[in-house]
Amino acid sequence: MAFDVARVRAAYPALTEGFAHFDGAGGTQTAAVVVEAVAGAMRAATGNRSTAFLPGRRALDLVAGARAAVADLLGAQPSGVVLGPSATALTYTLARTLGAGWRPGDEVVVSRLDHDANVRPWVQAAQASGATVRWAEFDPATGELPAGQYADLVTERTRLVAVTAGSNAIGTVPDVAAIAKTAHAAGALVCVDGVHSVPHGPTDLASLGADFLVTSAYKWSGPHLAAMVADPARWEVLRPAKLVPSADAVPDRFEYGTPSFPLLAGVTAAVDHLAGLDPEATGDRRERARAGLAAAQAHEEAVFDRLLAGLADRPFVTVYGSPARRCPTVSFRVAGAAPAHTAAALGEAGLCLSHGDYYAYEYFEGMGLRGSGGAVRASVYHYNTVDEVDRLLAELDRLAGPGGRMIR
Ligand SMILES: Cc1ncc(COP(=O)(O)O)c(C=O)c1O
Repeated sequence: MAFDVARVRAAYPALTEGFAHFDGAGGTQTAAVVVEAVAGAMRAATGNRSTAFLPGRRALDLVAGARAAVADLLGAQPSGVVLGPSATALTYTLARTLGAGWRPGDEVVVSRLDHDANVRPWVQAAQASGATVRWAEFDPATGELPAGQYADLVTERTRLVAVTAGSNAIGTVPDVAAIAKTAHAAGALVCVDGVHSVPHGPTDLASLGADFLVTSAYKWSGPHLAAMVADPARWEVLRPAKLVPSADAVPDRFEYGTPSFPLLAGVTAAVDHLAGLDPEATGDRRERARAGLAAAQAHEEAVFDRLLAGLADRPFVTVYGSPARRCPTVSFRVAGAAPAHTAAALGEAGLCLSHGDYYAYEYFEGMGLRGSGGAVRASVYHYNTVDEVDRLLAELDRLAGPGGRMIR
């Protein structure tokens, strides 16, 4: 089926403002069905969770609905879906909980390709317990994270391997399944950061080999909420710090305080939106979400190929990394211009691109680019078009001037 990008764009009210959003990696625009679901949940009588009265039962339904939706998106069980305010908060909860059981001499493996949200919580939990941190390195030329190095990094003392399923800086999609196999052979757990990868294609908890997988709904057309999924049996054996009277059952045990019930309605609506991206898809919501994301992925790849080719054609642009398997995300610099200046100049022209390190702290540190402002990032989402790419390339040409040099 040809991906009907015009139809998809019509599902996003914010796109009528005319900006070209190449900042989906930082947060996508919100689908209309999400806005309506959140507003609907706010308009309706809702209480805190209670079985005693209807508004209270609505709150219970909103939580259950969001768990079911996220489970469909990731191939998880609803009772294995922990909901939370952000991927960072959820990863800290898991790191503190697991780290409480670590001892000096235990080891944790993190990667320098990851967003800091899947690095620092583990490093700090290791510091608190006396465990040793070992680092997986990326190849600076290609931006790959070679899976083979984990054979040396993982030992019988490894308790946890944290790795990204998609770099939010340069798009690299590491061979997580191979890394997880190495980790599991040594008895280690694997925490996978799916925040950047999940919006860009079908995801399956089991085939990734992840014990824990985290995603943020605001990267896939939804509200600012996140979820971490695992087999319920994995959660069952863990004891997080928690209030005495709060629910002790899994997955509630890992959730702090009263959730934003209306935003949970938005999470469910966002998954429904993804499940509608391929109007010809049939089957249950999981199957339709997979089909929708596969159709979106093909479209994103076509748009991204044009962007990559256009950047490669311009000698005044330096692109970082060339990973073989990647999400549609690229970091680059324009000769003679600080990334902040490039992004601001593009912003003046209605082109939205992030700049800096976008919390891919270790990557930019390792590349020696942090001190000089990082890079500019263009990420493609399913509502982006080839025309928007051409607009971006034309604006880069205009800013670079006839000699290919930036004005400042
Ligand atoms: C790859 C990746 N991991 C984690 C995060 C953190 O997500 P959150 O803002 O939900 O904490 C981000 C946010 O940009 C990200 O891109």
